[in-house]
Formats: sequence, structure tokens, C-alpha cells
Amino acid sequence: MAALALKPCSCVIIALLLAMVSISKAVLDAHYYDQTCPQAEKIILQTVENATRHDPKVPARLLRMFFHDCFIRGCDASLLLNSTPGNQAEKDGPPNISVRAFYVIDDAKAKLEMACPHTVSCADIVTIAARDVVTMAGGPYWNVLKGRKDGRVSNASETVSLPAPTFNVTQLLQSFAKRGLGLKDLVALSGGHTIGFSHCSSFEARLRNFSSTHDVDPTLSHALAQQLKNKCPKPNRDRNAGQFLDATSATFDNNYYRRLMAGEGVFGSDQALYSDYRTRWMVDSFAKDQSLFFREFAASMVRLGSVGVREIGEVRIKCRAVN
Ligand SMILES: *[C@@H]1O[C@H](CO)[C@@H](O)[C@H](O)[C@H]1NC(C)=O
Ligand SMILES: *[C@@H]1O[C@H](CO)[C@@H](O)[C@H](O)[C@H]1NC(C)=O
Ligand SMILES: *[C@@H]1O[C@H](CO)[C@@H](O)[C@H](O)[C@H]1NC(C)=O
Ligand SMILES: *[C@@H]1O[C@H](CO)[C@@H](O)[C@H](O)[C@H]1NC(C)=O
Ligand SMILES: *[C@@H]1O[C@H](CO)[C@@H](O)[C@H](O)[C@H]1NC(C)=O
Repeated sequence: MAALALKPCSCVIIALLLAMVSISKAVLDAHYYDQTCPQAEKIILQTVENATRHDPKVPARLLRMFFHDCFIRGCDASLLLNSTPGNQAEKDGPPNISVRAFYVIDDAKAKLEMACPHTVSCADIVTIAARDVVTMAGGPYWNVLKGRKDGRVSNASETVSLPAPTFNVTQLLQSFAKRGLGLKDLVALSGGHTIGFSHCSSFEARLRNFSSTHDVDPTLSHALAQQLKNKCPKPNRDRNAGQFLDATSATFDNNYYRRLMAGEGVFGSDQALYSDYRTRWMVDSFAKDQSLFFREFAASMVRLGSVGVREIGEVRIKCRAVN
């Protein structure tokens, strides 16, 4: 009886949800700048290519930037805003150390403002750049949907809701679900670590005094543990010290998943994908079939790029400040 009484109600909710989904989809369009700035993607690609020639960590940082931006307040370039007197911005929040490639976006933006003023949003630049670094490194290409507007709020205290490198699969899934992303997105997007770089602080807890029973995280391979200890001695004077998250870090490939099968995930949250039965089978299939991984990665990047997209708002003139 109760279940029957609930039915019409849940239908209404489903209809509303469907309406919301189709509205937010309608905002974004692969051809959004075709008339207003047809050269936009070419300008962004050239800027990203040039920056990568000067610093091989740029691809990892731009991919991380996109992920971080979309996870906090949706893909609205809130991560790019500078702190102002009275407001500490996201980029100065706790896990800020890995996102230092803002100058690349600034550079692309300056060129875009000359070519087609007040047209291409900072949120779209970040999204296009994230696709470009993947394709440049040998990964898949996909059409980026565009038309995002830039947000006006950036709050350092909100970065606490980013998934931490110590999370287990339950915690990761909860964090993804809050953004409308699922299990497949979690495993596929984690594969972005194929070109990732991490500082010691994100995995050091696995290396020493891990738990009351294990000095080193038992899911971490002995060889890699030793290598990481050498890279991250205690005490450590080098703030930039760290490790690429995959042995073939200049190439976007499925090696990341094979490394997980060998106990060589650098983050606890990487290795957890192989320890947990809910995600292990998918790690296995991505490790076996690179083109499957590429397809799922591209699809998940498109979904991530739709999280919290704003239809109305501004196109910033400089990405570091609201207009
Ligand atoms: C290429 O990148 C370097 C380093 O970021 C920068 O100094 C230079 O101005 C860039 N050149 C062009 C043509 O964008
Ligand atoms: C990280 O944020 C702190 C403030 O929370 C700031 O002092 C520091 O300079 C930031 N680090 C980087 C690399 O931007
Ligand atoms: C930032 O977020 C915190 C926690 O949600 C909130 O208390 C604070 O008022 C926010 N600050 C601004 C400037 O919005
Ligand atoms: C994941 O971590 C949370 C918080 O530490 C813990 O409560 C939970 O039992 C863990 N779940 C799994 C499956 O390990
Ligand atoms: C390891 O952790 C325990 C308990 O937290 C602490 O008492 C001990 O000093 C730590 N040992 C080292 C070498 O850090």
C-alpha cells in the first residue's frame, strides 16, 4: 500500500530529474564557438604544447586542474580565482601544491582575448586543455562540449571535499556520487594518473609507521616502497620531491592498471581500486583492453565536464579575477 502510494511521487521526481539533466545537457555544445571564435581550440592546443615542451609536469597539472575545478562548485573555473583581502580562494586551500600550471591557462586566455575578446570562458579553456594533454600524450581524442560560464565564488574551505589520496573505495564512491558520477567514472578517471605526478605528502603515510601492525602499507610492493622511501626521505628538505604515478608517465596508456595489479599504485586510493572487489574487475578489464579504457575515459571526462555547469554567468577577462 505504502509503496503504491509512493509511486506517483517518485515518477514526478524522476521526471523532474530527467528535465534537469536535459536542461544541463542543452547548455553545452561541441560547436559553441564555431561562429564566435573558430580558432579557440587551436590557440589553446598551441599554448599547451608549448608549455609542455618547457615543463613535462604541465600535462599532469592541467589534468589535475580540470578534475579539481569540476569537483568543487562544478566546472566553473573557481579554482583559477586568486585570493582577495577577506577571501581565501580554493587554490590556496590545503591540497594546493599540485595545481601549479595556472600560467598556462593565463597565457591561453591572453591570446584568446586578442583573437576574440570576451568570448571563451576560463572554464572552457581548462576543459579543452585537459583533453589536449591526454591526446598529446597518446591518449584518446574526444569532442569537448563547450559553453560553460565562469563562477564568481572561490572558497578555500571547500577543498576539504576533494577525494583524498588515502580514501578507500567506499569513500571514493561517495565523493563521486555527490557529483553525479559512478563507479565506472571512478575507475576510468583514476586512470588519468597514467600521466600523474605526486608530492611526497600525498603518499608518505604508507611508507613508515603505517598502522599498529604494519610499518609499510602491506598492499604496496616492496620494491616500490623502497623506491618511494628513497625519493621521500625523512626529514625532507625538497618541497618538490615526489614520484610520477606511473612508470610510463609521459605516455597516456593503460599501464596504470597493470601497475595496480602488481601492487604498485602510489596512492592508497589507487591501490584500493584493486583491493576492493567492486572495482577490481574493472581494473582487470582496463589492464587487458586499452581501447576499452580509452573509450570509457573519454566518456567519463565528458560527464565530469558537465558537473555543475552554469548556464548564466560571466566570461572572465582574466582568469584570476572576477570581472
Ligand atoms: C612558450 O612557453 C614558455 C614557457 O612557459 C614561454 O615563456 C613562452 O612565452 C611561450 N611561447 C609562446 C610562443 O607561447
Ligand atoms: C598553499 O596555500 C597556502 C595557504 O593556505 C599558501 O601559503 C601557500 O603558498 C600555497 N602553496 C602553493 C604552492 O601555492
Ligand atoms: C566559505 O565556506 C565556509 C564553509 O562552508 C563558510 O563558512 C564561509 O562563509 C564561506 N566563505 C565565503 C566568503 O563564502
Ligand atoms: C573506508 O573508510 C571508512 C573511514 O575510515 C571506514 O569507516 C570504512 O569501514 C572503510 N570501508 C572499507 C570498505 O574499507
Ligand atoms: C609510530 O606511531 C606511534 C603511534 O602513533 C608513535 O608512538 C611512534 O612514535 C611512531 N614512530 C615513529 C618512528 O614515527
